[in-house]
Amino acid sequence: MSAEQHWDSAYSGKGVNERSWSESGDSDALIEFEFAQLGSDAAVIDVGGGASTFAKLLQIRGYKNLAVLDVSQVALREAKESFGNRAAEVEWIVSNILNWEPTRSYAYWNDRAVFHFLTKSEDQQKYVEKVSQATEAGSHIVIATFSPEGPESCSGLPVQRWTQEALASLFSDTCSLLRSGKRDHITPWGSTQSFSWVHLIRN
Ligand SMILES: C[S@@+](CC[C@H](N)C(=O)[O-])C[C@H]1O[C@@H](n2cnc3c(N)ncnc32)[C@H](O)[C@@H]1O
Repeated sequence: MSAEQHWDSAYSGKGVNERSWSESGDSDALIEFEFAQLGSDAAVIDVGGGASTFAKLLQIRGYKNLAVLDVSQVALREAKESFGNRAAEVEWIVSNILNWEPTRSYAYWNDRAVFHFLTKSEDQQKYVEKVSQATEAGSHIVIATFSPEGPESCSGLPVQRWTQEALASLFSDTCSLLRSGKRDHITPWGSTQSFSWVHLIRN
């Protein structure tokens, strides 16, 4: 089964409260975004954003230059519906991140729980290249993956769990570490998932 088929069926077969990655309140990703203190014209991309509330919350806060990329068109359809008639103001990109050819640069790259599905080193390197292609000096890159104490799989797929140090080191040729940490996500059914996250600045 392709990534596209897997994720389309994950979104069409399960409601928001049946998906382990759904957040009950505001997206955790908002904390790092606010730390970056970007202006409302900043180009922001949520990579593997799915039906997350991150981009919606930014739009409500006045951010005008938003993009959401996801391999699942079902997920993006659900996300678009949540934007109502303001969906047209967002750039929606249906693509596998590994095949995507960025056509512009983003000041802020957000990835919550997507990179960890890339378990092959060659795919991880491709992702690092995509970050380089789609950002420029000074861009912020925030990536959150399961930590070594987190689950070994998600949505029935194996994941690679990362320490903050290993994640930062993977990007160290092109990015510097601004700050990093760990955070617990509570699933809709009350279990805890430990995440590592890094906030990088593109050199
Ligand atoms: C665990 S969910 C997290 C969704 C969202 N970031 C959030 O925090 O709610 C993983 C998301 O990544 C997307 N995804 C998985 N592999 C991908 C890939 N290779 N390229 C683009 N999107 C991908 C899935 O469709 C799904 O929306």
